[in-house]
Amino acid sequence: MSKVKLAIIYYSSTGTNFQLAQWAAEGAHEFGAEVKVLKVPELAPQSVIDSNPAWKNYVEEVAVCVPTVSLSDLEWADAIIFSVPTRFGNMPSQMKQFLDTTGGLWFNGKLVNKVVSAMVSAQNPHGGQEATILSLYTTMYHWGAIVAAPGYTDPVTFGAGGNPYGTSVSVGQDGKMIEDVQAAVKHQAKRTVTVAEWVKKANQ
Ligand SMILES: Cc1cc2nc3c(=O)[nH]c(=O)nc-3n(C[C@H](O)[C@H](O)[C@H](O)COP(=O)(O)O)c2cc1C
Repeated sequence: MSKVKLAIIYYSSTGTNFQLAQWAAEGAHEFGAEVKVLKVPELAPQSVIDSNPAWKNYVEEVAVCVPTVSLSDLEWADAIIFSVPTRFGNMPSQMKQFLDTTGGLWFNGKLVNKVVSAMVSAQNPHGGQEATILSLYTTMYHWGAIVAAPGYTDPVTFGAGGNPYGTSVSVGQDGKMIEDVQAAVKHQAKRTVTVAEWVKKANQ
């Protein structure tokens, strides 16, 4: 069987979700998947980005090196992991805008049986992590995607704060992650790839 193709699609303003995406890519590589890490386009006005040094630095030093997702990446992928910061308990508009361009693929049944899961960051430990992931999963149900949430399929989830919807992390005022979630991210990546392998095998 050919390798599972995994697209890790993220939005980040200050780098946290870029780091989560990198860890997910490492976990998926270790499990033998073919991986693409892709950003969604930035939509914020330049003046807003410039007003936050961490945001400006991420855009100028990091995001420039990451390819931007396209609809063909969604067709290519057997599995997709999304990673987003919360915005008032919702996914950021940048990710929503990208998802809102998938109507044509959806209409033609091209998103059915994609195996998906999502990760999230927020400033506060209870700042809307689950709600944000659920806001993303709502769109996945419309796609006909198969949500492969981590649940409690491995003890690492407990060590990372115990979010069964998808790995979540809180970010301190200094911009650093508070919980140690690397192992949970890697487990989530492996689980998403594993479920995608099952689906791929069944469809051969
Ligand atoms: C407009 C806006 C709304 C936000 N809403 C929340 C929120 O509801 N709860 C929370 O804990 N953090 C909130 N945050 C903080 C971000 O979630 C946090 O900065 C982000 O997770 C960092 O991820 P990044 O480094 O990948 O951008 C908000 C930030 C912005 C700019």
